[in-house]
Amino acid sequence: MANLLEVNHLSISFTQYVQGLNRNESKVISDLTIDVDESEIVAILGSSGSGKSLLAHSILGILPYNSNVTGELKYKGQVLNQELKEKLRGKEICLIPQSVNFLDPLMKVSEQAIGECKDEKEHAQKKSRQREIFGKYRLDESVDDLYPFELSGGMARKVLLSTALIGNPDLLIADEPTPGLDAKSVEETIQDIRNLKEHGKGVLLITHEIDVALKTADRIAIFYSGYVIEINKVENFKNANNLLHPYTKALINSLPRYGFNLTEGVQPLGEVSGCPYYENCPIRLDKCENNIPQLEEHDGVMIRCFNFKEGNDGS
Ligand SMILES: Nc1ncnc2c1ncn2[C@@H]1O[C@H](COP(=O)(O)OP(=O)(O)OP(=O)(O)O)[C@@H](O)[C@H]1O
Ligand SMILES: [Mg+2]
Repeated sequence: MANLLEVNHLSISFTQYVQGLNRNESKVISDLTIDVDESEIVAILGSSGSGKSLLAHSILGILPYNSNVTGELKYKGQVLNQELKEKLRGKEICLIPQSVNFLDPLMKVSEQAIGECKDEKEHAQKKSRQREIFGKYRLDESVDDLYPFELSGGMARKVLLSTALIGNPDLLIADEPTPGLDAKSVEETIQDIRNLKEHGKGVLLITHEIDVALKTADRIAIFYSGYVIEINKVENFKNANNLLHPYTKALINSLPRYGFNLTEGVQPLGEVSGCPYYENCPIRLDKCENNIPQLEEHDGVMIRCFNFKEGNDGS
């Protein structure tokens, strides 16, 4: 399988000015490496504020002006620079944005879903695809002429989803596509994402809902305090013993069906001098306090830990 998207050592920070001219650099994503193959769904699972949307926006080339980015992105083997991002955006690479604020408040929803067309013929083709996809999500014809403020939250989500699917992308970045949707629409969204995979497309699914990741993805990357700490195959998430990082084990053990053993402590914000999980880790070593482990491969699993043990449930 060919690599569709490669993210190599991506870091994103923001420059902020405090007390006049004192510059403060706050790092949100640190040394993130991940890839998505053709016919593959990779989920990024992380808590609120961990930098998931920023990752999506860096791939689309829509980061805020005060962000500093290092690292490299590649799409189909080509360096994904700003020019290429703009060329592919909305066509080969589509985003389901997290926020309905991405909708243009002054444009009817069907027209923004169709997007720019080079001629009448293309418009007619896309109009029929738009109607078909809206119809599938039970957005009837009267919705076409509505403006975003006239939509309910759930309808707006479906419009965002349909808009990304009309683009027929090779790579879909889905940033929290399911919150606020009714159960039936959640299932349909998951099914549509799976269908893209069946057609050879790649999907980066960003979510903080572990069940959506488990139901949809082939591999799951766990985000902790701006770092990817483990990337593992979805089947290994059925049993915490098959996971390697103590945080991933704790996360799975915290699910209600595994006894709801909630992990203690909060994720550190900003720069840490050692492992980001040091404070909460049950298997920490002295060296973890001041050294950051690298993300390394171990039997096809990517793991960032000095002291992981297979078969150790971390408790
Ligand atoms: N323009 C900005 N300037 C400074 N900090 C920013 C800026 N944009 C985002 N951040 C910070 O980056 C962090 C990550 O934001 P992001 O929206 O990527 O989180 P997220 O993982 O998508 O969270 P959620 O699950 O709530 O959507 C936040 O803590 C936010 O404060
Ligand atoms: Mg987000």
